[in-house]
Amino acid sequence: MEVVIAPATRLAELAADAVDALVRARPDAVLGLATGSSPLKVYDELARRHEQEGLSFAQARAFMLDEYVGLPAEHPERYRNVIETEIASRVDFAPGAVQGPDGNAEDLPAACAAYEAAISDAGGVDLQILGIGTDGHIAFNEPGSSLASRTRIKTLTAQTREDNARFFGDDVDRVPRHCLTQGLATIMSARHLVLLATGKGKAEAVHQLVEGPISALWPATIMQMHPHATVLVDDAAASRLQLADYYRQTYASKPGWQGL
Ligand code: GLP
Repeated sequence: MEVVIAPATRLAELAADAVDALVRARPDAVLGLATGSSPLKVYDELARRHEQEGLSFAQARAFMLDEYVGLPAEHPERYRNVIETEIASRVDFAPGAVQGPDGNAEDLPAACAAYEAAISDAGGVDLQILGIGTDGHIAFNEPGSSLASRTRIKTLTAQTREDNARFFGDDVDRVPRHCLTQGLATIMSARHLVLLATGKGKAEAVHQLVEGPISALWPATIMQMHPHATVLVDDAAASRLQLADYYRQTYASKPGWQGL
């Protein structure tokens, strides 16, 4: 696991560099897109590169991590709509190239199985962008999630619903109680994981993710088992890391050509 500690704008550039290098080398790459505020600067940077530097997603495909259950199709906080607004509509993905789990399906378990099949039919995800919840969830794999889980329905914790109330007019009662989410094993199947976290509120989750014991209590800790995981954090999110000085030294002496 590589930990990079840098200001938020630099982190976004680094993540965008990794996506940029992948898509230019393999135009038909498969990306994993996350919602939440953490990746927004990355999406801004990718949109800018699309507009100004010819970065094209025309042959690429993308899979979303998760979706609320039961939000009306036109609801602005439905993750499918959020991803459309934040990134898909700002670049040149082909129609239908960005997919997410169907949180309005009549048969939710069948929708989850179909989603797993779609990811696998696409050859799996090459680069997965991730954020992390304050309780250590990735996608919507809340504490207690099986470390071997696949896409399925989950119940959101009170903490996550409170954290996400800001997107629902600060009214926690309007935050859905259920979601469909890629499982931890689904996420672990991606070939490169790039997680972004900023702000003091993420410091404990980041400490657990990087340095804690692997446990369903902090689901993101499973990333310690991934052969190519990159954790991009600002000073505040890094403030509880025991080995922060070592991560800083390591990154400072990394050859520039190596990338993430
Ligand atoms: C939600 C999403 C996660 C995201 C998390 C953190 O719960 N399902 O994918 O990582 O929020 O969000 P933020 O980046 O806004 O802090």
